[in-house]
Amino acid sequence: MYEYQKDNVFFAQVPGMMETICQEELIELGAADTKIAYRGIYFKADPVSLYRINYTSRLTSRVLAPLITFPCRNTNALLKIADKIEWEKIFPVDKTFSITASVAKSTINNSLYASQCLKDGIVDYFRKVSGGIRPDVNTTNPDVRFNLYIEKDVAVISLDTSGESLHKRGYRLLAGEAPMQETLAAAIIRLSKWDGENTLWDCMCGSGTILCEALMHYCRIPAQTLRTNFGFFYMPDFNKEIWETLKEETDKKIRPLPKGLIKGSDKSQKVIEVAADNLSRLPFTESVELACHPFQHVKQFENGTLITNPPYGIRMGELEEVKELYTELGDFIKQKCKGTKAFIYMGDPVLRKSIGLKTSKRVPLVNGKLEGVLVQIDSYEGSKKKYYAEYKAEEERQKNNLKTSPPLFKEGKKRGGL
Ligand SMILES: C[S@@+](CC[C@H](N)C(=O)[O-])C[C@H]1O[C@@H](n2cnc3c(N)ncnc32)[C@H](O)[C@@H]1O
Repeated sequence: MYEYQKDNVFFAQVPGMMETICQEELIELGAADTKIAYRGIYFKADPVSLYRINYTSRLTSRVLAPLITFPCRNTNALLKIADKIEWEKIFPVDKTFSITASVAKSTINNSLYASQCLKDGIVDYFRKVSGGIRPDVNTTNPDVRFNLYIEKDVAVISLDTSGESLHKRGYRLLAGEAPMQETLAAAIIRLSKWDGENTLWDCMCGSGTILCEALMHYCRIPAQTLRTNFGFFYMPDFNKEIWETLKEETDKKIRPLPKGLIKGSDKSQKVIEVAADNLSRLPFTESVELACHPFQHVKQFENGTLITNPPYGIRMGELEEVKELYTELGDFIKQKCKGTKAFIYMGDPVLRKSIGLKTSKRVPLVNGKLEGVLVQIDSYEGSKKKYYAEYKAEEERQKNNLKTSPPLFKEGKKRGGL
């Protein structure tokens, strides 16, 4: 019996600074007894919750199922343990595999060497039980992945139940100059609490990550809707029937996107094309409005939700230049966005001052190696109630399939697609 089968405890790896929000999401998806650790969360789950987490979590990076924990002071220990696990019950010899390793405060201090030793042990085991045949290693796109973690000379070998990292949704084949990680975009949408009550606009949308994540969130599209291979397919106790029922029930909850509820624009035509390409892999993208223009050209954006990620000033341009842009964005929000809530993710917290507006919330969040911050700015209330009532009425009309419904939001005096 493997370790996770005895106690149903799994380990979710999560992006930096997102432990608390990931814990909340895991609980919503059925995890129990959650415990936050560094860059991760231990939790208990039954098979249906484990499959649900892998299929629908927008924030988790991957979920590991511990197979065995053992003392590990030298590489011999790795070879020995590799010989004890019945690997052929996890994956057949014709599938490829990979091992990710990390080591901390241990006699073995080279993670690459540790992973190679474990790999050798697995290969030797297969040769022994499969008449000399061995599985191949594939480090870029393996069928099954394992994780080796050694801390203070105690090692854990886990099966990666996710497979490829869950931040990879499969819609982003092309990226702009400084794309945002999908899990970060999803976290920002969650923190904004937007759920379709008004128009969401990303006024510097780049390759459209925020738009794609907003669409999936509103339409209740599982984060891994495009994925066909999960690591949990290789769990020795994988239950196909439970997985298929869960998938069917989850997919039934998908709802269409009202036209124009999500809008994106950018001053660069090149990245707008990238955004359109990325969006095209998801359903209902014909309802997303994309336009190419600087946000400064938009006449007004009232009673909406503005979520955006301006240039960082590190990778894309000089800080001074970017500061000016932030000041223009602040002026734009103040003058033209009455009743709008704005959420701005900036790579460098010093840029917050350049906006020149009071922020009602600040949340530190990491994008790759960049330690940025999300700020919330509440422009004063306009006629929000009126717009909400209009939106609800339209949603009702769409539900009843009435083809003659009036436009959802007034295009009025606005120019340039918004
Ligand atoms: C950090 S990138 C956005 C990345 C995006 N979140 C993604 O995931 O691809 C910033 C974007 O702001 C755009 N931009 C810069 N100044 C702008 C302006 N004045 N109006 C509209 N877009 C602008 C750039 O073209 C760039 O695509």
